[in-house]
Amino acid sequence: ADMSMHNHQSSMTAMNGNSAKMISIADLTGPREGTPDRHFTLTAQKKTVTLSSGKTVDAWTYNGQIPGPELRMKEGELIEVTLMNQDIEQGVTAHWHGLDVPNAEDGVAGATQNAVMPGETYTYRFRAEQVGTFWYHSHQDSREAVSMGLFGALIVEPRTEPLQPVKDITVMTHRWKGASIAIGDSDQLERMTIAPGTPVRMRLINTDDWVNQNYTLVGTHFEVAAIDGTELNKPDVLTNTRIVVPTGGRYDITFIMPERPVYLNVGENRNGGILMSSDGSGNVPETPKTVDFDPLSYGSPAATPFDASSRFDREFTLILDNKLGIYNRNFDFLYTLNGEVFPNAPMFMVKEGDIVKTTFINRGNVEHPMHLHGHHVLVLSRNGKPSTGSPWWSDTLNVLPGETYEVAFVANNPGLWMDHCHNLVHAAAGMSMHLMYE
Ligand code: C2O
Ligand code: CU
Repeated sequence: ADMSMHNHQSSMTAMNGNSAKMISIADLTGPREGTPDRHFTLTAQKKTVTLSSGKTVDAWTYNGQIPGPELRMKEGELIEVTLMNQDIEQGVTAHWHGLDVPNAEDGVAGATQNAVMPGETYTYRFRAEQVGTFWYHSHQDSREAVSMGLFGALIVEPRTEPLQPVKDITVMTHRWKGASIAIGDSDQLERMTIAPGTPVRMRLINTDDWVNQNYTLVGTHFEVAAIDGTELNKPDVLTNTRIVVPTGGRYDITFIMPERPVYLNVGENRNGGILMSSDGSGNVPETPKTVDFDPLSYGSPAATPFDASSRFDREFTLILDNKLGIYNRNFDFLYTLNGEVFPNAPMFMVKEGDIVKTTFINRGNVEHPMHLHGHHVLVLSRNGKPSTGSPWWSDTLNVLPGETYEVAFVANNPGLWMDHCHNLVHAAAGMSMHLMYE
């Protein structure tokens, strides 16, 4: 397979005959000039924090809180974020998960910048070009950083105001080191008062470093408006549907608040979640039997810059697997890409403008939410079945055991990018690689 991939690449290069375009520094950084429309300061600091469950933990925080402050901005704005590290000896960064920012703003220690050490600051500048639900987290030893609390929501609102004000609710789900202690999670019931007739958007963000999370909305029909920060075309109306969000993934669901209470069941725990009603009272309704939401045939097709019948400039195959072995001096499970662990896993080379097809094949026995930085991939097929619904763009695609996904993306954001499993334990145990522009 390696050989044929290689031949394919060189012949394509010869055929389209592009003379190599030099990538300049300006292609790799955000706008260095100009007054920012919005400025945020994130101060990384150790802090003893009380979680919503009441448990007190020694955490690493942005601005003394978990999650860190929600960064809200408007489409098109020039954003400046000053990151300061007060006292986290391991160093920190800020990575804007799902926002396709220029490479130098991506916040990956060891690839796009050095980790910011105690007493140091680093300034990120980028334009908020995508509307939707994103999040940020430190990307210096992500596994430890995210499990210790260095994450928050990032929301980009559309330039134009909606006709009717929307009740916009961010639901971040996170477990403290795998234990059932939660933030906005299943141990606590949160009550909200919402007037009937109000349009509601719930932004489900799974920031867990390890486990997927599921959500069931009870008491109303609803739509899945967006996945991974990208709106879906003509979403179908759903009821009795469970939504499973992989670690790192985001699903936006929308509905019009009815007269009766609506309950978001998080993690199938009858004691927790969010209960919405016209006066904040009401009982938690019984959760019905559900089917799992499937984006592959949801909504309506729409035009995309390429599709399954396009001619691809590059084609890569990634076999996801696990095995026992020694990594970083530990004997444990390794999570492999084409049989190798980082940094021996393959590196994908692309050229600006390429349409790149990637096939993920999960031969292991656990799921892998694959996260590509700097780009969104269009799902073409799963297990040979073509995507027939709305274009499904993803930045964190959950590949279940035994599944095969074909995806494609345009190489339109030059630089050195990470591609890794967002189960951060897997990423730290080998399942990471780079995508690089020639
Ligand atoms: Cu959300 Cu490489 O990370
Ligand atoms: Cu994984």
